[in-house]
Amino acid sequence: MILFLKKVMIEADVYKIPRARIETVEFLQTLIIDKKIKSILEIGTGNGFSSIYFAQIPCVQNVYTCEMDPFRITLCEQNVKYFNKINFFPINFFEFNENIVVDLIFIDGTKRMYKDFFEYSQKFSHKNTLFVSDNLNFKNHLEDNENLEYKYKRITNKIDEYIDFLKKNKNFHTDFYFDNGDGIAVTKRAINN
Ligand SMILES: C[S@@+](CC[C@H](N)C(=O)[O-])C[C@H]1O[C@@H](n2cnc3c(N)ncnc32)[C@H](O)[C@@H]1O
Repeated sequence: MILFLKKVMIEADVYKIPRARIETVEFLQTLIIDKKIKSILEIGTGNGFSSIYFAQIPCVQNVYTCEMDPFRITLCEQNVKYFNKINFFPINFFEFNENIVVDLIFIDGTKRMYKDFFEYSQKFSHKNTLFVSDNLNFKNHLEDNENLEYKYKRITNKIDEYIDFLKKNKNFHTDFYFDNGDGIAVTKRAINN
C-alpha cells in the first residue's frame, strides 16, 4: 500500500470515520481488474480511503464520489486533491446529476438507504454495470440482537429488506459474498433485462 493511502487509512480510524475493510478493497480490486472497470461511482467517500485505493488501479480512469458530511468533506478535499482520476462531489448523492454512465457503482452510504441508492443510481448505469453493496453483515457486529437499540434494529431490518429485495429482483442477478470483507453483494442486470 502506498504511504499516502496508509496515512488516509489511519486518519479515518483516528477520527472514527467508517471506511471499507482491506479485504473489501482487495476483493474490489480483483473484480475491477478482472472486469476491466474504467469508471466508478461511489456513494459515500468518507475521508477518501476507498476512492484513492480505486484510483491506484491502472485500468481505472475515473472515480466519481459523493460525500455530504461537512467534516469528512474537509478531510476528503485535502486527501483527494492529488489524484486527477478522482472527481469529488461534496453533496448528497440524491443531488448528484452528472451526465455520466459508469462501469461500477459502489454503494457505501447510509445503510438504511441502500435500496434508495440502488434505485437512484440506475440512471448512471449501462447494461453491464456492476452494483457493489458493502457492509451486509452489519448485524453480526452487534452483540445482543435481542436488546438492540431501536436505531440499530432499524438498520439491521433495512439491510435484511435490501438483501431480500436483491434476491427477489428478477431484473437483476446478485452474487452474495457474506464471507468476504464485511459482506458484499455484486449485482448486475439479468441477461434478458
Ligand atoms: C462507510 S462511509 C464511506 C467510506 C468510504 N467509502 C471508504 O471506504 O473509505 C459512508 C459515508 O457515506 C456518507 N453518506 C451517507 N449517505 C450519503 C448520501 N446520501 N450522500 C453522500 N454521502 C453520504 C456518510 O457521511 C459516510 O461518510
